[in-house]
Amino acid sequence: MHFVLLAAVSADGFIARHPGHPPWEWASAEEQARFRAAMAQVTWSVLGRVTHETAHRPERKRIVFTSSVTGVAWLTPNHLGFNPAGATFDEVLETAKPEGTIAILGGTRVHDYMLEIGRVDELRLSIEPIRFDEGLPMFTGVAWLGLDGHLVRHGMVRVGEDEKLNDAGTVERIYRKLPSNAPTPAR
Ligand SMILES: NC(=O)c1ccc[n+]([C@@H]2O[C@H](COP(=O)([O-])OP(=O)(O)OC[C@H]3O[C@@H](n4cnc5c(N)ncnc54)[C@H](OP(=O)(O)O)[C@@H]3O)[C@@H](O)[C@H]2O)c1
Repeated sequence: MHFVLLAAVSADGFIARHPGHPPWEWASAEEQARFRAAMAQVTWSVLGRVTHETAHRPERKRIVFTSSVTGVAWLTPNHLGFNPAGATFDEVLETAKPEGTIAILGGTRVHDYMLEIGRVDELRLSIEPIRFDEGLPMFTGVAWLGLDGHLVRHGMVRVGEDEKLNDAGTVERIYRKLPSNAPTPAR
């Protein structure tokens, strides 16, 4: 299993202006094409109930974070509800039995949880040249300028240079988890 967190962010690091504000309303065509290509490779997605409902896809296999279940319970034949207050992530994996690449699709508290339990192997960030000034951050309480340091503290580092996706200034930035025996770089 390989867990990839896919997110589009504004230039000041927000994933949405408010809950219910989806990326397709503001992200570039190039970002959306990149997202669709990545999603074509994944077997399952992990996401919060609001993102799940905002981008409802009955045919997609999803682990949906929600406090409406006590631990792990099927919401529909393809959507497995998960409440971390009543079960561990390993328990939800025992039920879902996902293989291959699994996408982590937000929102903020799902990012927090997956990073905290060490289940983000790769983070692919599309950065759009638009500022929101306020909104939903990538991680709770982490300012955009503090993102790299937050990721380093969780064993993840930036790899390569930003890739330009279009002339307007959209770039893709990639972070990967360090091998567990690698020294943590200072930031
Ligand atoms: N730009 C991007 O790449 C990107 C990525 C993701 C999302 N978004 C956008 O961000 C917005 C939604 O994000 P969001 O952060 O507000 O919401 P979200 O994470 O999608 O959903 C929040 C809900 O998920 C459940 N949840 C999350 N963490 C939980 C936990 N630890 N324990 C129990 N339940 C948990 C709760 O559901 P219950 O209320 O059912 O208990 C909570 O109300 C949408 O507009 C979406 O389109 C953008």
